[in-house]
Amino acid sequence: MTTKASPRHILVTSALYYANGPLHLGHILETIQSDIWVRFQKHQGHHCIHVCGSDAHGTPIMLEAEKQGLSPEQLVGKINTEHKNDFAAFLIDFDNFYTTHSPENQTLTELVYSRLYAKGDIVARNITQSYDPVKNMFLPDRYVKGECPKCGAKDQYGDSCEVCGATYSPTELKNPISVVSGVPPIEKDSEHYFFKLENYAELLKTWTHQGHLQPQITNKLNEWFDAGLRQWDISRDGPYFGFAIPNTENKYFYVWLDAPIGYMASFKNYCERHQDVSFDAYWGKNSTYELYHFIGKDIVYFHALFWPAMLAGSDFRTPSAIFAHGFLTVNGQKMSKSRGTFITARNYLDHLAPEYLRYYLAAKLNDGIDDLDLNLEDFITRVNADLIGKFVNIASRCAGFITKNFQGKLSGTLYNEALYQRFVEASSQIRDDFNSRQYHRAIRDIMGLADLANQFIDENKPWELVKNPENAEKVQQVCTMGLNLFRILSIQLKAVLPQVVTNVESFLNVPAFKWEDISAPLLNHTINPYQPLMQRIDPLQVKSLLEKGKVSMTEASPEQPVEKTEKKASDIAPVITYDDFAKVDLRIAKIVNAEHVEGADKLLKLTLNIGEEDRQVFAGIKSAYQPEDLIGKLTVMVANLAPRQMRFGLSEGMVLAAGPGGKDLWILEPHQGAQPGMKVK
Ligand code: MSP
Ligand code: ZN
Repeated sequence: MTTKASPRHILVTSALYYANGPLHLGHILETIQSDIWVRFQKHQGHHCIHVCGSDAHGTPIMLEAEKQGLSPEQLVGKINTEHKNDFAAFLIDFDNFYTTHSPENQTLTELVYSRLYAKGDIVARNITQSYDPVKNMFLPDRYVKGECPKCGAKDQYGDSCEVCGATYSPTELKNPISVVSGVPPIEKDSEHYFFKLENYAELLKTWTHQGHLQPQITNKLNEWFDAGLRQWDISRDGPYFGFAIPNTENKYFYVWLDAPIGYMASFKNYCERHQDVSFDAYWGKNSTYELYHFIGKDIVYFHALFWPAMLAGSDFRTPSAIFAHGFLTVNGQKMSKSRGTFITARNYLDHLAPEYLRYYLAAKLNDGIDDLDLNLEDFITRVNADLIGKFVNIASRCAGFITKNFQGKLSGTLYNEALYQRFVEASSQIRDDFNSRQYHRAIRDIMGLADLANQFIDENKPWELVKNPENAEKVQQVCTMGLNLFRILSIQLKAVLPQVVTNVESFLNVPAFKWEDISAPLLNHTINPYQPLMQRIDPLQVKSLLEKGKVSMTEASPEQPVEKTEKKASDIAPVITYDDFAKVDLRIAKIVNAEHVEGADKLLKLTLNIGEEDRQVFAGIKSAYQPEDLIGKLTVMVANLAPRQMRFGLSEGMVLAAGPGGKDLWILEPHQGAQPGMKVK
């Protein structure tokens, strides 16, 4: 039954997204999970606030801003807006989306730090690190590359080897270079501040076994306890984009220190606009309110160890629970730029409606940390079969008769009270499953009910009944029954499909559903004419999404959000191996056509024949050639370059030319004996 418990006060966070690149569907997985949970709690009548924001600080953001010719603040501002828009388009309803680079966060970070300092939890000591003598900066591990000290593999990052799995420090790499400037780094000493995590060992051992964590996470933490808790380096030397550490010179808080405090800051900022909500009631040491963090499994260490220790040490409350989830894979594999399965939020939204993905992920999400696969074929089949074939179908089969034959009026009684009660009773399990993040079970049960509803309509066949005027009353009752079952399913799905269900509310001509509305049917009530609620997914939409993914990723794409240890760096033009070179497919091409491109100052459109096939290539050689000079010539092209969507069309390769530019540019012209399509060696 849907009995009403007293309202809870709940604060929910999703991870703060690095503000240096676009969101991808992995990020969206997390917020779909948290948004469904928050919407569900709100429907239950609880006070639930969802805060999020941008993680603004750190070396990668500083360098990315520099690369784009922006200040870090400008880059963060720009990306913050993009992220906010993407989330809104996925119907993620944050109560506040803020940033860690904010006055609230600075104040709170200084407060936490000073309290830890006063307790003796902070120590200073000198450490030796790699330093870029050209850029005059210390280098995070991932900004040094070289040969693995264990196996000798080339081009490995400064923290671990992708070939043999060894972990080490950047100073152990052979022939290291700085990724920032390309020169060998030097070693340099500097004083760092450390948080003495070991002071909280007992507290953490207790806290991590009190039901705040998923069992798989507790097991992982036990391994870390056994390995011993290490002191945590919380400072960085300038230049660094972050908050200066008070009473130091040129030292900044490490991004991961102020990032979780950013949850508090986002909430504080929310409170400034909602005077009735008390910051202390949620964060005070003795708070009785609930606090939940939704995060990916890769950042558990920060949330389950450092964070509770920092909070306890600075006299704030600790989280009620941490809800970690697994990673999103696409078609069974890690998202890949070359396969086009690295799907940005924007690319998805350009092709498909947000609620398809919300539904598909809900149908797979559980309370565990296993990875979750977006299989695109299954996605199309499942969404079309469940949402259009089963759910929406119920309404579209019943609504027309009510509108046409009864002026939109529902009957006064239920045709099958027992079936209605069956739906009501099933709701309490569905409610519990949403509450415990077993969305997949909730969805399975909801679709089971949808099958029953369709079966009811199949058995009663209103389309046949309607042929005989004597059956009029029965038609109205059967269709009213069908629509009432549909209404229950809509209430159950409301957290998953917020827009569609808002449209259902208009169609049924009722105020916004609450969960408790399930118990009382809608009778003697006039509804509005039915408008289609959802379209089927056309497989072509998915195909074009993947193609767009491939193309756009070959353009100057911003590097993806940095890894937990600040690992991402833009690679500088390095020495390539023979194997790298061997990947380039160079072919003799015959220029069978060349023409001007309207609106392009530099480009000519070339049609290149490479034996079997013709390729269209846009080449920036207009300053040096007239189209007619080129037609008939042989040249050399890169034939396996990923196609690139340009403003004027698709470019399917590149021609090779040499020279300083302008008029002085010559395409490579092989000997006339060469044949189009021949490999160039
Ligand atoms: N800025 C930190 C979080 C600080 S929270 C105080 C960070 N940012 S992130 O942008 O890299 O990741 C944000 C969230 O997205 C993390 O919870 C991360 O686990 C999650 N995901 C990133 N890639 C993901 C998938 N492929 N799949 C599912 N979640 C993923 O970490
Ligand atoms: Zn190695």
